[in-house]
Amino acid sequence: MFFRKSQPQAQGAASPHAAGTVRVAMTVNGKAASADVDSRTLLVHYLRDHLRLTGTHVGCDTSQCGACVVHVDGRAAKSCTVLAVSCDGAKVATIEGLAQGDKLHPMQEAFREHHGLQCGFCTPGMIMAAVDIVNRKGNQLDEATVRHELEGNLCRCTGYHNIVAAVRAGAAAMSGTRQAAE
Ligand code: FES
Ligand code: FES
Repeated sequence: MFFRKSQPQAQGAASPHAAGTVRVAMTVNGKAASADVDSRTLLVHYLRDHLRLTGTHVGCDTSQCGACVVHVDGRAAKSCTVLAVSCDGAKVATIEGLAQGDKLHPMQEAFREHHGLQCGFCTPGMIMAAVDIVNRKGNQLDEATVRHELEGNLCRCTGYHNIVAAVRAGAAAMSGTRQAAE
């Protein structure tokens, strides 16, 4: 999982608007999105408050829980650590972009089948992190690898056993399928 620098980067066309406000444009789940935001706006708040993509959760204020994980240019990122302006021009994928219509993404289906959730609060971040693990580590994941790779995602309900089983099953099921909406 990577962390963007906390300083805004002139990656794309984020342009000054009103005082302290910038227009940020990016591709989110395959669709163009833009909004005028305070330059200090975090990506997670851009997604939730401006785009109404509330599947990405905020579970802490210490960058520890992973409930906010999305993909930025194909890599998992904790969106509470990323300024929206630093993603100007980027391709962002959120949990809302995984399913294809009524058909769940294989990783979502694996969490459902293996009961990898209870309250579900951590689940969007878990699933986005899990898809990223598969993208980086492949489809055959042993238990130790999954547990190590999920260090940055906290769940206070499940005890992780079922989450690990779900990630392993989802990884295998993702073989030969599209990895994530970008
Ligand atoms: Fe981002 Fe907890 S809300 S790590
Ligand atoms: Fe409740 Fe993970 S299912 S926090």
